[in-house]
Amino acid sequence: MGWFPVFVGARRPEAAICGLRYALGMRNFTNPGVGSDGSMYACVIGETQNGNSGLRSLRMRNSNSIIKIVTVAALLALTAVRAVPTARAAEGALAPVTLRCEYLHNPVGIDVRQPRFAWVLHHTERAQVQSAYQVLVASSPELLAQNKGDQWDSGKTASDDSTQVVYNGKALESDHSYWWKVRYWDKDGNASDYSHPASFDVALLSADDWKGQWIGGANQLRQEFTLAEAPRRARAYICGLGYYELRISGKKIGTNELDPGWTTFEKRDLYVTYDVTANLHHGANAVGVMLGQGWFKSRVLLLQMDIELASGKHVSVTSGPTWKAKNGPIVSDSVWDGEVYDARLETPGWDLPGYKDDGWKPAEIVKGPGGVLSAQMMPPIQDVDSMVPLALTNPRPGVYVYDMGQNFSGWVDLHVNGPRGAQVQLRFAELLYDTGMINRENLRGAKARDLYILRGEGEEDYHPRFTYHGFRYVEVTGYPGTPSLDSLRGHVVRTAVQTTGSFVASKPLLNQIHKIIRWSDLTNLHSVPTDCPQRNERMGWMGDAQVSSEGVMLNFDMAAFYANFLRDMRDVQDPDGTITDTVPHRYGSRPADPAWGTAFPLICWYVYQQNGDRRILEENYDGLKKYVEYLRSRAPDNVLRYSYYGDWVATEKTPGAEVSDFYYYYDTLLLAKMAAVLGDAADAASYAQRAVQIKDAFNKEFFDPKTGNYTTGTQTANVLPLFLDMVPNDYRWAVAGKLANNILYEHNTHLTTGLAGLRYLMPVLTQNGSSDLAYDLAVQTTYPSWGYMLANGATTVWELWEKKVGSAMNSQNHHMMGSVDAWFYEALGGIKVDPDHPGYRHIRIEPQMTRDLTSVSATVGSVRGNVTSSWSHEPGIITLQVDVPVNATASVSVPKSDEMTDITIHEGDRIVWEKRHFVGGTPGVTAGKLDGKRVVFEVGSGQYVFRVTGE
Ligand code: BGC
Repeated sequence: MGWFPVFVGARRPEAAICGLRYALGMRNFTNPGVGSDGSMYACVIGETQNGNSGLRSLRMRNSNSIIKIVTVAALLALTAVRAVPTARAAEGALAPVTLRCEYLHNPVGIDVRQPRFAWVLHHTERAQVQSAYQVLVASSPELLAQNKGDQWDSGKTASDDSTQVVYNGKALESDHSYWWKVRYWDKDGNASDYSHPASFDVALLSADDWKGQWIGGANQLRQEFTLAEAPRRARAYICGLGYYELRISGKKIGTNELDPGWTTFEKRDLYVTYDVTANLHHGANAVGVMLGQGWFKSRVLLLQMDIELASGKHVSVTSGPTWKAKNGPIVSDSVWDGEVYDARLETPGWDLPGYKDDGWKPAEIVKGPGGVLSAQMMPPIQDVDSMVPLALTNPRPGVYVYDMGQNFSGWVDLHVNGPRGAQVQLRFAELLYDTGMINRENLRGAKARDLYILRGEGEEDYHPRFTYHGFRYVEVTGYPGTPSLDSLRGHVVRTAVQTTGSFVASKPLLNQIHKIIRWSDLTNLHSVPTDCPQRNERMGWMGDAQVSSEGVMLNFDMAAFYANFLRDMRDVQDPDGTITDTVPHRYGSRPADPAWGTAFPLICWYVYQQNGDRRILEENYDGLKKYVEYLRSRAPDNVLRYSYYGDWVATEKTPGAEVSDFYYYYDTLLLAKMAAVLGDAADAASYAQRAVQIKDAFNKEFFDPKTGNYTTGTQTANVLPLFLDMVPNDYRWAVAGKLANNILYEHNTHLTTGLAGLRYLMPVLTQNGSSDLAYDLAVQTTYPSWGYMLANGATTVWELWEKKVGSAMNSQNHHMMGSVDAWFYEALGGIKVDPDHPGYRHIRIEPQMTRDLTSVSATVGSVRGNVTSSWSHEPGIITLQVDVPVNATASVSVPKSDEMTDITIHEGDRIVWEKRHFVGGTPGVTAGKLDGKRVVFEVGSGQYVFRVTGE
């Protein structure tokens, strides 16, 4: 797949600069997002060769870059010109694009019998919807090209569903490929062309499809085999634990790293499917697999290659006792501790046919991990980008310290030339001492070091395979000679989700905060959302996951990832309904702290809200019900009191019981809503009723009407009940007032919240008409604030509000305090999914124009297509540009500033509001009404530019 630039907010000259930065940054970009000064560079979304996209910038290091800029500018202009017209050339209903199956683009290896399809629609007219669709699924590309859906022809199906369309054809078969396409009819009955074809491969649907045996015995396993003919189609299904690298005839297969994803191995093991047709040949072939320990802490392999030969004959190559085993150059590997690689132990040619494997012993038949084998159906971990070091110092003789300029997860590629047996040690750190030496006190027990032992035959390149580090600094010792900046390259390694959202504001500090949040979110995606990527932890802590997940979903294409994580949660659930603090469970407790366990219902609900994914509710409902019933068993008087961490890492303490009980109420409320969506009226009614009882008990237990405060009166204590509208009506404003006073006067406009309170603090202030105050907190620069972190050199979000660099718990890269990013999109950008019309079927555009902000541009890549809200505010003029995808409608709430009276609102060059009345007749704008200080227009799909002017 190629890449293309999309300019957002290109009114600004920086947009063009950003485009150049992006293009130049293909190999060695530094940061997604904005420039280090926070200025508005974040304006290009591109897609790289490997399908990763991002907002990028380049650290330019010499004047040659200027020449490159000119060249690239020309290229960019051409690409941009090419990219836009292809989507826009035709008139009316354009062929659907962005075809996805189970949220994935052309997935190779799904194990769902009734997969779901989604597509994105474009239309040259406004207010368009799909009135019908036709999906064709064929068993060959040729049949599809002839418009023959031999597997499924939905016929013209009257429906406005363009997502979550369930396959309803002939039974899909294991180890088969399918091709599909779709067309649609618009609201006037005009048909689009068919889309370009897409495909999906069904992997192994049942346990009986597996023929191989689990083997082990060494960290390199090999097998040779002969094919009587060239293959026509070949798939490799592999589960290599803890991690594997699959090699065929001398080449690594695929670009996955640290694969497969981490699961509760005794319950479920993910296998990965590769199309290896092009890697196999008539005659002799060899397959080799390297194994790492990963989280499994042992090495086992199950592999099956199903090959269809040119004649149509099927053969399989499977792991079994005829395989050979021998330990290779990886002497040790550990997620936390790093890798020791002795290049002298390499076995050149071992993955080629004809290799003399005399010294190898037979592979051992071993016990498998015991879990159900499931296809890995989420973006894999990949080496997504490289980083050029910013600086190299030599703080002590023989000790070299590289500064990558950015904290991230991954590894470095070492380039070295030296004598055989020389040992180069790489140690990783987030911090430096004043002496310039690396400070690793906060890594706790993680050794976080790689050791490379040279083979001594000229230029050598090394990066580890089965470990990763969280770091900004790298210490190199033992390097033969003097290393240069070019001796190391950083590699960002993480789950390769695509960037779908963007947020840019006129306030540089907000962009900088957004940038460090994005880095923390992304570099903590390692098949599960980890808490941090550096110390001896890296766990799927559920509290961290639940607070960040909505913001993460607004930034990246996360549905498949979170669907997998929700299944991981089901896998840890015990029959009594309990789940665990970390998923998979290694650290923390069972039952989970309720503020951690709530990740199960909350993430499920967010996935539903963002994608309109009813199946995610169906799949999880029973587990969620058991979970909520467990909570109930712990709350005989309707108050859930048990808590371990509560409002974790707050600067002022709120009783844990209040936090837990708040989530008990939230979980119960959500269960009632889910039951209603799923049509279980009895459950919906009983959980709604239970929720009322919990709310009443909560107020009795924690609210003091005399003071107007909940419990200790901290920000968190009052924010939680305000967020879910739990406060008795008569006291609502009193409690909101207490909160505002606490922020303003008791803390001089600073927050005091931890993980739980922070998640809701800004939204509550906005709900209560205090977006200005929320904004003041967001742009605060003294402790505790994100500005304070930035002022102290943060390039990712800290774990603590405090600046700590000692041996305590103080990760420099923790995403949980980045939960504010959702508020950036939803309040400052103003893009909100309407809870009653999930999946952006109906959108609420409600931007908050606060204080000195003069513009914000936000885009969310929804399941229906891009939703954009981009506004600017100058004296006397407010402009709001909105993009609403086909098949969606929106209520666009256009603000006016206080000093504006007698306003007129134009959309394009037509008046839509004048003399306090809606003026009809503008295509797509169906209604408008005054709502307090705003005028709310109802619009259909299309792009709109509203301009408010007034006296
Ligand atoms: C993790 C947190 C986590 C917490 C539980 C820590 O060690 O890093 O992010 O949520 O434990 O209290």
